[in-house]
Amino acid sequence: MIEFDYIIVGSGIAGLYTAMLAQERNSVLVLTKGSIEECNTRFAQGGIAAAIGGDDSPDLHQADTLTAGAGLSDLGAVSILAQEASDRIRDLIEMGVSFDTVEGAIALAREAAHSRHRILHAGGDATGAHIEQALSGAVRLTRVAIFEHTLATQVLVEDGAAQGVLALDTRTGAVEGIKGKFIILATGGAGQLYRYNTNSPVATGDGVALAYRAGAEIADMEFFQFHPTALRLPGVHPFLISEAVRGEGGILRNARGQAFMKSYAPQGDLATRDVVARSIMAEMRQDGSDHVYLDVTHLPASTVTTRFPQIYRFCRSHGLDITRQPIPVAPAAHYMMGGVRANSWGETNIPHLFVAGETACTGVHGANRLASNSLLETIIFSKRIISKTAAGNASPRPLTPEAIPLPERHPAKRLLPLSLPSLQALMWDKVGMVRTRAGLEEAADTLAGWEMARRKPADRASWELANLALTGRLVAEAALLREESRGAHYRSDFPQPSPEWQRHIVFRTGATG
Ligand code: FAD
Ligand code: SIN
Repeated sequence: MIEFDYIIVGSGIAGLYTAMLAQERNSVLVLTKGSIEECNTRFAQGGIAAAIGGDDSPDLHQADTLTAGAGLSDLGAVSILAQEASDRIRDLIEMGVSFDTVEGAIALAREAAHSRHRILHAGGDATGAHIEQALSGAVRLTRVAIFEHTLATQVLVEDGAAQGVLALDTRTGAVEGIKGKFIILATGGAGQLYRYNTNSPVATGDGVALAYRAGAEIADMEFFQFHPTALRLPGVHPFLISEAVRGEGGILRNARGQAFMKSYAPQGDLATRDVVARSIMAEMRQDGSDHVYLDVTHLPASTVTTRFPQIYRFCRSHGLDITRQPIPVAPAAHYMMGGVRANSWGETNIPHLFVAGETACTGVHGANRLASNSLLETIIFSKRIISKTAAGNASPRPLTPEAIPLPERHPAKRLLPLSLPSLQALMWDKVGMVRTRAGLEEAADTLAGWEMARRKPADRASWELANLALTGRLVAEAALLREESRGAHYRSDFPQPSPEWQRHIVFRTGATG
């Protein structure tokens, strides 16, 4: 078996930034299931939050993050996030990311539920592409080994500790065990669970599924963020229309042309994502429409084209001139707040198994993520993984006493066969933005039935589908247990938050809690 100090699974911001730090003194392997640039990171638009403005402070950033988290964020983790932000931004700049400037100073934008202008961006609305290009370019100049088209299918655990991974070469079908001292899952999110989503095709919940099967704790899965404004044009992928568009003055209007957000929330178009997304759904339902409009026609055309060149070009290529026509938009699944439970050093409950980026649940986001906090979370906690492992005192996160296994289910014998469209439709219809007990029961039963009936995966597509089915089940079961509404999780049969539920739902296979 080949052996490395660090095996990093994933080549988004989490994988590449961690690799850059780890390679200084260690042998490092980055495994990625597609080509190096395939990831969610490169689609990030709005930017990365950091309290670097003259009128801002880490304390204000911390307060805004906690408010968005709706009582479930971890204060310690949020404090680390806000305090260490400017140092990590400096690292990104040193690694080659050039943020947009105005008169020589870094330009700061405003996004929903941030009380200050604190979003750094690059190439206008192409922040993720700039980060991904800079980091992949920097990694290629190092001795980091990069295995593209290589899918991690299992975390190898021996004597209770992670020792390596099983990897499938997706072009030849060969399977190989690879040993590592430290295994870091940086596999991103799971937006492909849902019929309408803003994510890359690689976002199939692999890290959560691999970690759960290996015995890691999985937390907060009921909190899946739906972005309010994805382009809704027939036959066109739900391309993200950044929240920063509303930050620059874009106005949401219903099918009758009326601005409506002020009647739902005092912050109007800049209310938190969950509030805006549900308000849009209510307007769509009322008007019998599958979209509302985001209107920027009142802004100077030059502001629109220079600040949002990517969005402008994408819409233009589909026949829509957004400087003259309102943009048809609707909510779409966007970000997984939950994930593999980690402490503030990225450690899971399995010794030597770490998680970084969207796969990790560090406790920063709680029930709802504040815009542009996820790129930041990634670099903050990736840095801490490397500090901890380099110091040689890595230790697992203690087990959560309240962790529970997934409940047993006895699904109906006759089920539609599992396919990506049937899974995505089920999740969208029954485990989407508005949930009920009956719908969640149906989804959990179906997902359990699919898991029982499936054959052992043999190629990338069948592994991804199996991972989605397990990840979807974790979302559905957590959503069923949480009999309240909080942050991104909304139950129409329990529409209010409940103080009893100010706690986390944690799953672990074999747990007895
Ligand atoms: P990713 O960038 O998704 O990378 C995951 C990597 O893991 C990929 O390379 C994938 O191929 C690989 N992988 C997955 N499974 C396996 C496996 N089994 N084996 C091998 N490799 C595997 N956040 C912000 O803070 N600001 C923004 O402006 C912003 N805009 C966004 C816009 C869009 C359209 C989207 C979708 C998200 C946005 N986000 C934003 C969220 C943010 O981009 C992501 O949370 C972040 O980029 C995740 O980085 P990551 O490295 O964890 O995962
Ligand atoms: C956006 O640009 O609206 C996305 C920002 C984010 O998801 O943080």
